[in-house]
Amino acid sequence: MRLIIGISGGSGAIYALGLLQTLKLLGIETHLVMTKMGEDVVKYECGLDKNDLREFAKEIYSYDDLYAPIASGTFKTEGMVIIPCSMKTLAAVANGYSDNLLSRSADVVLKERRKLVVVPRETPLSIIHLKNMLELSRAGAVIMPAAPGFYTHPQCISDIVAIMTGKILDAFDIDHDLIERWGEKGKVGER
Ligand SMILES: Cc1cc2nc3c(=O)[nH]c(=O)nc-3n(C[C@H](O)[C@H](O)[C@H](O)COP(=O)(O)O)c2cc1C
Repeated sequence: MRLIIGISGGSGAIYALGLLQTLKLLGIETHLVMTKMGEDVVKYECGLDKNDLREFAKEIYSYDDLYAPIASGTFKTEGMVIIPCSMKTLAAVANGYSDNLLSRSADVVLKERRKLVVVPRETPLSIIHLKNMLELSRAGAVIMPAAPGFYTHPQCISDIVAIMTGKILDAFDIDHDLIERWGEKGKVGER
């Protein structure tokens, strides 16, 4: 299995790191592209640069490398996750404005009818943000806001990251044991 991971300049870079780490543990091949602001926010929020991420991805491409394999539909993948997805990248993908490798790769995933999971990050949301999400959902993307449930009683940030990672893996039908599934251990209050 082969997935494209796109990191844009929204807050919540830790979600992307958690996903990349888990995909590596599961032996899933990842192709990573970060926008310029994506790289900046990874550095600002997590203290990591591009080189630190090399161990987690099979390939890392430059955001302006429109010759990269993932820019073409002939390069087969199971799909792509944009995590976190800034409102700017959301607007670009929703409108087919492919001026960097991240937005071009997402455009390719949509045109090839592969799975696109978008993890938007902004609050509150304007009507423009909401319209762009609706447009992407209509185009077949899965809109998965970074809004994890708390009914499993997460104790720390890594628990919260694991919930989001688990939800994304579920969208691709990838087996994992990151989340407690409702009904498996009894409902809240029965513990
Ligand atoms: C620390 C930091 C956090 C940010 N968080 C968000 C965010 O959560 N959502 C968002 O839409 N933009 C956020 N931004 C602004 C985007 O980075 C900015 O709009 C940028 O142009 C997005 O470019 P990109 O989509 O090419 O990565 C943040 C910027 C900084 C510096």
